[in-house]
Amino acid sequence: MGTAPAKRLSEMGYDENKLGFGDIFTDHMLTIRYSATAGGWQAPEIRPFENIELHPAGMVLHYGQQVFEGLKAFAGQNGDGIFLFRPDMNIARFNRSCVRMCIPPLDPKVFMDQMSALIRKDGDWIPRSPGTSLYIRPTVIATDPHLGVRPSKTYLFYIILSPVGAYYPEGFEPVKIMVTDKYVRAAMGGVGEAKTAANYAASLLAAEEAHAAGFTQVLWLNAVDKSSIEEVGTMNIFFKINGEIVTPALGGTILPGVTRDSVVTLCKDMGMKVSERTVTIDEVVKAAESGGLEEVFGSGTAAVISPVSHFQYHGKDYMVGDGKTGATAHKLFDEITGMQVGKRPDKHGWVVNIGS
Ligand code: COI
Repeated sequence: MGTAPAKRLSEMGYDENKLGFGDIFTDHMLTIRYSATAGGWQAPEIRPFENIELHPAGMVLHYGQQVFEGLKAFAGQNGDGIFLFRPDMNIARFNRSCVRMCIPPLDPKVFMDQMSALIRKDGDWIPRSPGTSLYIRPTVIATDPHLGVRPSKTYLFYIILSPVGAYYPEGFEPVKIMVTDKYVRAAMGGVGEAKTAANYAASLLAAEEAHAAGFTQVLWLNAVDKSSIEEVGTMNIFFKINGEIVTPALGGTILPGVTRDSVVTLCKDMGMKVSERTVTIDEVVKAAESGGLEEVFGSGTAAVISPVSHFQYHGKDYMVGDGKTGATAHKLFDEITGMQVGKRPDKHGWVVNIGS
């Protein structure tokens, strides 16, 4: 692979610098079917990208029994292969989500090998421009044609690939977020830490209201008393308060983000004090009022690092720092995106070269 623009993208008339997120799909997909009566997961197939056929009573359509993941493939900077970032964590999280949703987990080796084969096959779709990548969307859905509420006995696992640019229209520019205590995302014992469609469906109304009020995303509070911070719609959240990096501890209601975990490690590497703990909205408001709130940024596979310039709580607007992207967010963005394409040293062994 070279550093010239992706061959298939240009053949198809796409401009690498105007990809947006999630609208373009490659030539192939991977499918693996599961049948409890036919011995479990069947042979994988890499086939031309096509619509999937579902019975109108297909259980995923009625009861949402589904799990997905999101990760990215990058063209190595020096034409030295295709790089994935910590795919083992996505595969492990996929299988944990499956257990929560009563879906049979996949063999992690089959998952990794087949996903890699698919990406290599469609390698000519991987964009090269800075800030672009090939987004990978593994998904599993319940396919039994049945209207009673129970776990399905058949499933379809598939992976589709989408060349993407920045997730938010703002790119790496700061976003504004709205703290909601009108809606909640997840409660203890629910499915908040699983990557399943229900969490995203439940977030839509709050997100629409936030958009209408001029905000990019919603910041969720805990369900019980709405005092502590959980996460943003599609990202985990970090605060720099008086020099300390703090992020809500994982406790069952928050998605255990791969980028979140990487940010915690990288901040420690940079010699910063990092705490995973309860972060109350009152603490954040007080820090904003006293000038101690130096930075706020989100982390996620799709969003990478997304600086937050303002937040609104109970109708009042607060500015973060000087309203511009902070130094920590900058460093993390450069470090993570540099590592992902092989431009920066990968001292934790997070980058996997799957060849080309
Ligand atoms: C990701 O960051 O990969 C996500 O899954 C967020 C999303 C686009 C739902």
